[in-house]
Amino acid sequence: MSEQLAPTKTPKPATAPFRIPGQDELPVFAPDWQLLEKSHVVGFNSRHVSSRPFSLLRSQLVKRMKAKDYGIVGVTSPAPGAGKSFLTANLAATLSRLPNHIIHVFDLDVRRASLAANFGLVGDVGLEQFLAGETDDLTKVGQHVDGTNLALYPCYPSQLETMPLLASERFAAFIASLRALPDDHIVLFDMPPVFANDDAMVVASQIDAYLMVIEQGRTSQKQVSDSMRLLDPVPCIGSVLNRYDGGVGDPYGYAYGTYSKYSDYYSKAD
Ligand SMILES: Nc1ncnc2c1ncn2[C@@H]1O[C@H](COP(=O)(O)OP(=O)(O)OP(=O)(O)O)[C@@H](O)[C@H]1O
Ligand SMILES: [Mg+2]
Repeated sequence: MSEQLAPTKTPKPATAPFRIPGQDELPVFAPDWQLLEKSHVVGFNSRHVSSRPFSLLRSQLVKRMKAKDYGIVGVTSPAPGAGKSFLTANLAATLSRLPNHIIHVFDLDVRRASLAANFGLVGDVGLEQFLAGETDDLTKVGQHVDGTNLALYPCYPSQLETMPLLASERFAAFIASLRALPDDHIVLFDMPPVFANDDAMVVASQIDAYLMVIEQGRTSQKQVSDSMRLLDPVPCIGSVLNRYDGGVGDPYGYAYGTYSKYSDYYSKAD
């Protein structure tokens, strides 16, 4: 245990579920497209050679979410660094191109928050401060990506201890507010890795389903099955094989470029 944590804050109990802002209530964020490219966030551009797998994944995800009436899906992996934030960002970007859908992305990997860095978001108030009860106003946290249906709720680096934030009544009330969103809203959580600590299990216990990111050459079959056992009974909506270099993508044109070694497949878990 080398990590130094700030003294625990007890989040204020929520008296009522929170208001999830409409996108027109949020500050507008104009992305720097070069920075997005550097962060490997290509999903906004349907013509980008590496965005095709995300479009395919989007179709399958939306189909499954609708079939099961799921509204909140988390992205996790057994160990850190498998590509959860990369996948969440690209999936969110590609989902935001769908007409008639509103996408909300929350960075719930409070310890390794990277949504802000990947998109180039800056702000004074992060999701961790909302979770800690320092504000109830999510318009101070979220930003609406200009010209899209996408709202991003980043965390900024903080020393807050995460468990009291996530295992709180306040967090449950926040989830209840998200569940009250209409059916055309999709909520994505960038989650912590399963093996790092209890955070992923605590978050997973509140969501409808999770996507499991598997890193080719690094994630073992045992890690995947152990993670799924730990997350049980939350359903796995699918698995994504990241950094795939088996060549299956080549004939479809997405095995080019520096970050195209990516493929996806869905598990039978349901
Ligand atoms: N398929 C890929 N091609 C190129 N770069 C990738 C790919 N997947 C992930 N990366 C890069 O690898 C790094 C780690 O990925 P990412 O941050 O998404 O992992 P993570 O699972 O979210 O990690 P953590 O557990 O620390 O949150 C990032 O710089 C990301 O852009
Ligand atoms: Mg991450």
